[in-house]
Amino acid sequence: MQKLSITWLGHSTFLLRTPGGKRLLFDPWLRENPSCPEAMKKPPRADVILVSHGHGDHMDDLVLCARESGATVVAMYELCDWLGRKGLQNVEPMNKGGSQQVAGLTITMTDARHSSGYIDGGQMIYMGEPAGFVIRLEDQRTIYFAGDTALFGDMQLIGAHHTPEIAFLPIGDRYTMGPADAARACQMLGVRQVVPMHWGTFPVLTGTPGELKRLVEPKGIQVLELKPGETAE
Ligand code: NI
Ligand code: MN
Repeated sequence: MQKLSITWLGHSTFLLRTPGGKRLLFDPWLRENPSCPEAMKKPPRADVILVSHGHGDHMDDLVLCARESGATVVAMYELCDWLGRKGLQNVEPMNKGGSQQVAGLTITMTDARHSSGYIDGGQMIYMGEPAGFVIRLEDQRTIYFAGDTALFGDMQLIGAHHTPEIAFLPIGDRYTMGPADAARACQMLGVRQVVPMHWGTFPVLTGTPGELKRLVEPKGIQVLELKPGETAE
């Protein structure tokens, strides 16, 4: 099996290559994403696209990426229903607490504390509740992608129940938790590594990986700080 590789496309958009060689795209936002490198704004090859919630900064390029790649889209029921109305057939809707097998991976949808609506044709469309994902990889390790969320107590339960090794957590503050709450989340989840996301895209997202590092590195948790376009293995 290969090593898990993680490429950050800026904001909350990530492309992962799993140990079994599957390509997972999270929260696709490319063309208007100020931190996505110019050379990476084209829809990437993907087997599965996971969408945490309906905000534009997490799915403005979802329809394009799903069409171009033919990937299976995994998201909340209401969001998948909207995609179906856009003509996308390859969707696997789910809801919180449920799991499903997609491309040889076990995907569990978790809670997230946030909101979820998409502006389409000048209207705010309800996209179901926001969510996070726990993914059990081919080597049986698990990762947790929190989506946009506040800190919440059930992160403790996610940690105890799924024992993720890596957490993808928002740290920008204002619209999600900031570094201090993300540090607390790392402890509740019991992760060894954390990938900070949803920071640096706009001036109002003030949280930085440096602040997170200062809080978690003394506790033996590694912060995987990526630059947009950069890949870590
Ligand atoms: Ni959001
Ligand atoms: Mn967001």
